[in-house]
Amino acid sequence: MPSRLDGPPKVTGRAKYGADHNLPGMVHGYIVVSTIAHGEIRAVDVTAAMGAPGVIDVYSPFRPLDLRTPNTMFGETWVPLQDKEVAYYGQPIGLVVAETYEQARDAAMTIGVSYHERPALTSLLDGISAAQDAPPGFDGSPSTMDILAPGVASIEDALRASPVVVEATYATATQHHAAMEPHSAVAAWDSDGLTVYSGNQGSNLQAMELAAALEVDVSSVHALNPFVGGAFGGKARTSAAAFLAAAAARAIGRPVKVVLSREQVFTATAGRAATIQKVALGATQDGSLIAIRHDAWSSTAADRSFVEPASHSTREYYKAENLSISQKMVPLNIPPGTFMRAPGEATGSFALESAIDELAVALNMDPIQLRMRNDSTAPLGKDLLWSGKHLDECFRIGAARFGWSERTPHGRTDGDWLVGLGVATAMFPALRFPASVRVTLRDDDTAEVATSGADPGTGLLTVLSLVGAESLDIPPARVTPLLGDSALPPGGMSGGSTGTASAGSAIMIGAAQVIEELQALASSPGAPFEGMEVSYADGRVLANGQAMTFGELLRAVNRPSLSAIGSSSPGEELTKHSFSSFGAQFCEVRVHQWTREARVSRMLGVFDAGRIINDKTARSQLSGGMIWGVSAALHEGLEIERSGRLANGDFAGYLLPVNADIPDIDIHFVEYPDTLHNSVGARGIGEIGIVGTAAAIANAIYNATGIRVRHIPIMVEDLLPD
Ligand code: MOS
Repeated sequence: MPSRLDGPPKVTGRAKYGADHNLPGMVHGYIVVSTIAHGEIRAVDVTAAMGAPGVIDVYSPFRPLDLRTPNTMFGETWVPLQDKEVAYYGQPIGLVVAETYEQARDAAMTIGVSYHERPALTSLLDGISAAQDAPPGFDGSPSTMDILAPGVASIEDALRASPVVVEATYATATQHHAAMEPHSAVAAWDSDGLTVYSGNQGSNLQAMELAAALEVDVSSVHALNPFVGGAFGGKARTSAAAFLAAAAARAIGRPVKVVLSREQVFTATAGRAATIQKVALGATQDGSLIAIRHDAWSSTAADRSFVEPASHSTREYYKAENLSISQKMVPLNIPPGTFMRAPGEATGSFALESAIDELAVALNMDPIQLRMRNDSTAPLGKDLLWSGKHLDECFRIGAARFGWSERTPHGRTDGDWLVGLGVATAMFPALRFPASVRVTLRDDDTAEVATSGADPGTGLLTVLSLVGAESLDIPPARVTPLLGDSALPPGGMSGGSTGTASAGSAIMIGAAQVIEELQALASSPGAPFEGMEVSYADGRVLANGQAMTFGELLRAVNRPSLSAIGSSSPGEELTKHSFSSFGAQFCEVRVHQWTREARVSRMLGVFDAGRIINDKTARSQLSGGMIWGVSAALHEGLEIERSGRLANGDFAGYLLPVNADIPDIDIHFVEYPDTLHNSVGARGIGEIGIVGTAAAIANAIYNATGIRVRHIPIMVEDLLPD
């Protein structure tokens, strides 16, 4: 059995992603996007398009498809074509449906759109004077908060009273998930309702959003996503492609496929907001933090549908008596924002963990020692202690593995290269969501573990089989996991680093239930162990010194299978502890002293994330996050022109690291199963890998060159010597 179940179908090309589905009679939709950033559509001339070869219909705000704005767990999700307003460049404003993709695309090029254009605000700096308070964070906690020691009137007083203060402004770029699989959908209606194949992070959530948008019962929407080519938060909400394909298929009465072009993915979906962050840290001479102030501004789309909460997690890092955080949003005429791997934590940690490094420099103190001096036992202002926190061990082990003791305050040189080491703390809250999983025992001695969910590359499919096998006490090869089908019990979302904790807990409950039912069946009237006390181990029922496999028992009583659905939700534990994963990020950067090129040459992440279920997929998650941290630090950034057009919204201009940019990555786990959080003992690992990485790189660059760069991505021109 492969150690990663989705590996063989993916590398052999057998895995069918959403747009790989082709149905009889299927036609193709091509999305038309706006070419201004702000205004109202005055007219759409479709004469040429309607007469073009193969064209079936053309939809626009003047001939809309029948869609409503769904309001689900994500709040309202925008649906296209319902009004004439344009809020950003590249907004979906039309759909051409034709017999072939090429015909639809060609006809779309002939469409003339005229606008009443209004002035557009597209720059975070330009918009900052119009900033507004952000709404509360995802967990409901206020976006602005002051925690002050008794007798301290304000955070400014606490900073003034601090013997050592560092204060600086940091900035992070607009980014995009840029998942390999572009957003797409194949939609078909029959007498039972809608079937839609579309990559997403939770097939039942997709079904709910589509049902609400189409005003049909959720039971008549069947959403399928057995393989997803990357998501990272960008496929949590239903895409414009899926809404339009579903509505057009209903209007036309034929299956419709809509695939966004790579350029369209950058604007017609959603990405990560740019941030500007001011951090001030006050400390004693020996490095004890007295005051932390973190104010953040993030761009948001005109509809304010998402705020990147960059300052929000700062209360979870270090102990200090005084904390002030604020989060402002700056509405702009830019493509929307959404969840993107560690939303808030990735951006916020760049500022906070750079500032901690600056404080270490000001104190002439080792940056690990400074962090450990301020190690906290609970989030600031909360009296619930962490269920487990082994950050000190992460740093201790990491320092030894990485050779931290050889670091000097001013790096070293190696030929033409300036070499520096940097560290940062990583932190990501441990969450889980309600989930239900069906556990089935079959008469051939195999089992099935099934939940709607999604495995967007996280490894959840393999984890289902492993936790299922462990819970049923049989080898993983005998467990078939099923995922990515909204008809299965609702497994929630692969997001928030919750998949293993949520689904795993439900599997354990479902397995215990089905075993109980099996035992009852074994001892029921007419069954082989009638009236006996029956136990279960090793895939077998046992009574009176006799044993039968569950398959043998099911065959003996003529039952092809036996199922139970286990459900689990977060509950009581939330009143007893705080829950987070932690980690220590180490990196070595080489800056060429003549070309000023920066290259990451070594990386190590040591993580305290509870129990690790599958070493291979866990390492893949963490190295993926760390690589993205390199990318954020040195490569990625969308350039938004004043017009609102993305100057580099494609794979030629939007820089992503390639293999040659990434060194060997060492990952180590300190494994303390966290059964206070959930019975599986696993905390999340999907997002923490990116947290702190960009700061560790910027800190290493400072160590190598003495140049402090307070924005990402860091470019060659940022590293020119004075
Ligand atoms: Mo992920 S950003 O939690 O969907």
